[in-house]
Amino acid sequence: QLRSVVRGIGSALPARVVTNEELAKTVDTSDEWITQRTGIRQRYIADKTETTSSLALAAARKALADAGMDASEIDLIIVGTSTPDNTFPSSATQVQDGLGIRHGAAFDLQAVCSGFVFALATADKFLTSGSHKRALVIGAEVFSRILNWEDRTTCVLFGDGAGALVLEAQEQDGAVTDRGILTTHLRSDGRHREKLYVDGGPGSTGTVGHLRMEGKEVFRHAVGMITDVIEDAYAATGMTSDDLDWFVPHQANKRIIDASAQKLGIAPEKVVLTVDRHGNTSAASIPLALAVAYEDGRIKGGDVVLLEAMGGGFTWGSALLRW
Ligand code: ACO
Repeated sequence: QLRSVVRGIGSALPARVVTNEELAKTVDTSDEWITQRTGIRQRYIADKTETTSSLALAAARKALADAGMDASEIDLIIVGTSTPDNTFPSSATQVQDGLGIRHGAAFDLQAVCSGFVFALATADKFLTSGSHKRALVIGAEVFSRILNWEDRTTCVLFGDGAGALVLEAQEQDGAVTDRGILTTHLRSDGRHREKLYVDGGPGSTGTVGHLRMEGKEVFRHAVGMITDVIEDAYAATGMTSDDLDWFVPHQANKRIIDASAQKLGIAPEKVVLTVDRHGNTSAASIPLALAVAYEDGRIKGGDVVLLEAMGGGFTWGSALLRW
């Protein structure tokens, strides 16, 4: 059976770090409020030259170097993003061009904070069907460009960045001891539009618009929704929280992550937490967190890793893989 095996990982962050103290100089907030409610201490904010496609390209180059692979070997690029440089062409085709690739397919996928899990699941279907051999799956965002910097209830929460994985289709045994993606589960429910949305767009106001959120409502749904797709992952593989080496959730808020891990019976030392330094980078948060835990030596070959995300739409999903 074909499995999508992780061959390489890379990430990219803007140069500028913005601390909570710095934000408190321009909006009515404090380091204490932000840290206590969210666990965020700082975030990276893109300058004019740093865009979703430039961050995605930088992350992709690092992932290819980590894989020891030439760009010409890639035949599929999927970028999960809600903040593309332009309405079209896609960020993925910009990455493809930046890498000098002239074959295969490249497209963006929009599922907001679940974008990386949705992109990973999609790439997995392409690779395990045998239609494509090697994929770059990227989460990349510049949420700083859709924030109202005068709205303290949203502007303190988000940051910019990108992370990329190189996946390769490899023949495996078809057992849960295989390396690669073991199972993915995606869900959506469009009724919740008003709880988290951007109040602009080419088809409505003709402007880019700003992110709007009912924070408490999103929080409540986030903790509740995450568990069903994780139970699906456990049911599909026969695994439980005890079998996990690492839990790498979407990094929106430390309180959501702690509550989810506790509900699932996942030990705190297995949880990879990067929201303190990256803020919520939407579709980029999971590959950025994976890159941190891989580079500091926590995630090693053979480890069982559970990914989970929830975001606007609502959309939510899980992916269980063996690194
Ligand atoms: N600094 C200081 N005070 C603030 C700030 C701020 N940045 N933001 C809000 N406040 C004030 C509010 O105005 C309110 O004041 P009031 O009581 O005088 O009206 C008070 O703090 C409490 O506000 P709440 O909204 O009730 O605070 P809450 O404890 O719910 O925390 C938060 C807000 C952090 C947004 C929380 O609801 C949350 O984390 N929600 C999840 C949202 C999220 O992470 N979304 C990310 C996108 S979706 C995803 O990625 C899953």
